[in-house]
Amino acid sequence: MSHAITPAVGSDSVSPTVPAVSEEHRRAKRALVQAVEKSLGASAPHPKEADRPAAEQHFVQALAASGLNLGDAAREELFSDVMNDLFGLGPIQALLEDPSVTEIMVNRPDRVYAERAGKPTRTTVTFDDDAHVLRIIERILLPLGKRLDPNNPLADARLPDGSRVNAIIPPVAIAGPCLTIRKFSKSRLGLDDLVKFGSVTPAVADFLRACVLGKLNIVVAGGTGSGKTTLLNALSGCIPDHERVVTIEDAAELKLHQDHVITLEAKRPNADGSGEVSIRDLVRNALRMRPERIVVGECRGGEALDMLQAMNTGHDGSLTTLHANSPRDAISRIETMALMAGIDFPIRALREQIGSAIQVIVQQARLRDGSRKITNVTELAGMEGDKIVLQELFKFKEAPGPTTADKVVGSLQASGLRPQFMAKLEPTGIRLPPSTFTPGAPQAPRAAA
Ligand SMILES: Nc1ncnc2c1ncn2[C@@H]1O[C@H](COP(=O)(O)OP(=O)(O)O)[C@@H](O)[C@H]1O
Ligand SMILES: [Mg+2]
Repeated sequence: MSHAITPAVGSDSVSPTVPAVSEEHRRAKRALVQAVEKSLGASAPHPKEADRPAAEQHFVQALAASGLNLGDAAREELFSDVMNDLFGLGPIQALLEDPSVTEIMVNRPDRVYAERAGKPTRTTVTFDDDAHVLRIIERILLPLGKRLDPNNPLADARLPDGSRVNAIIPPVAIAGPCLTIRKFSKSRLGLDDLVKFGSVTPAVADFLRACVLGKLNIVVAGGTGSGKTTLLNALSGCIPDHERVVTIEDAAELKLHQDHVITLEAKRPNADGSGEVSIRDLVRNALRMRPERIVVGECRGGEALDMLQAMNTGHDGSLTTLHANSPRDAISRIETMALMAGIDFPIRALREQIGSAIQVIVQQARLRDGSRKITNVTELAGMEGDKIVLQELFKFKEAPGPTTADKVVGSLQASGLRPQFMAKLEPTGIRLPPSTFTPGAPQAPRAAA
């Protein structure tokens, strides 16, 4: 009988939805992991990095003792699987090291998904069982002094490389332990990358760069996964180096290249309910840190009110995102969040505050073909009665012709309206040609900064 442990590489029968690891391989790996753990003694099941050389020797001995007769490739694969189980994140270690993977989701031992280019797909990766998933979760949490048990069934953590981890176990995760890892991307997309991807036209990218330099207050609106944080990061990247920036997030995702940046992260309450530091607490604290700009990862609650007040009291050029499906929806979300924060002045006064605090809403969307684009750039242009006037400056228009599900063709077009805040953009030195605001104008050459 052959001991080919995994199906031959390139075999047609291997599809990404079929587990690539045979039961035989799994059993061999498990036995070897246990043998090596046993030889390592005290520090198992979470040996230290310093135990690695010893573990490698034990592996060789245990493999010889097992009588398995493997080819070179199979032996190497088994070796790296065993080492990953002992020192790394087990079966998902390879996904973690794969730069094209942005997110890893373990729903069940045999249902592991990976997101590449914004699309989650089921992988061939499998864990042995729930206990195996739990062991890997523990490996992540233990060095941070965190642990999970039925009374504390969920935890957030970070891997040493900055990737965000969420783990949740029974009884709240009914079917078994789940693990979600949002990988820390080493390089964040800049505005120029977004132009290259077709998410924004060069003209609108220049316009937005001028808005940031001109210290307008900007809100990025969009659904979950629409690219809000990415766009916020790209916009924040346009802030001049000498300005003092305080960033505030639930989990630090922004990656700014400037020196004068202070990164704050909210803190969940401790098990006894004490010790919480909310986004709102951090916004209030940031005001005492002499910031020139405040960048809030996402407004979800009462912090919206504090942001409005900050924007209205000299902290121009602040940026944030929120969950909304249109610029109009964004306004009503801000209203709701401010009302929830317990303001006691009339709605009209609140709208006036919103109208004077925010100048631009940029709507980001994930289109039906999976691409992420800016779909609207909208100016808040004063009040009419008790309503905020929204003036659309740019809007994504699909090209005429038959629509197909697999590819959206179109572009971001000027409405013909020039923003009221043009005077604020002039000192930035970014020359915006008149064609920027002309509907259907041919794309002007790139403006010089
Ligand atoms: N314009 C874009 N083009 C291609 N991919 C993008 C774009 N914007 C964001 N992404 C990718 O989409 C995923 C979700 O983006 P993110 O900014 O975190 O969304 P949100 O903050 O709205 O949840 C990330 O993997 C990110 O790299
Ligand atoms: Mg986000």
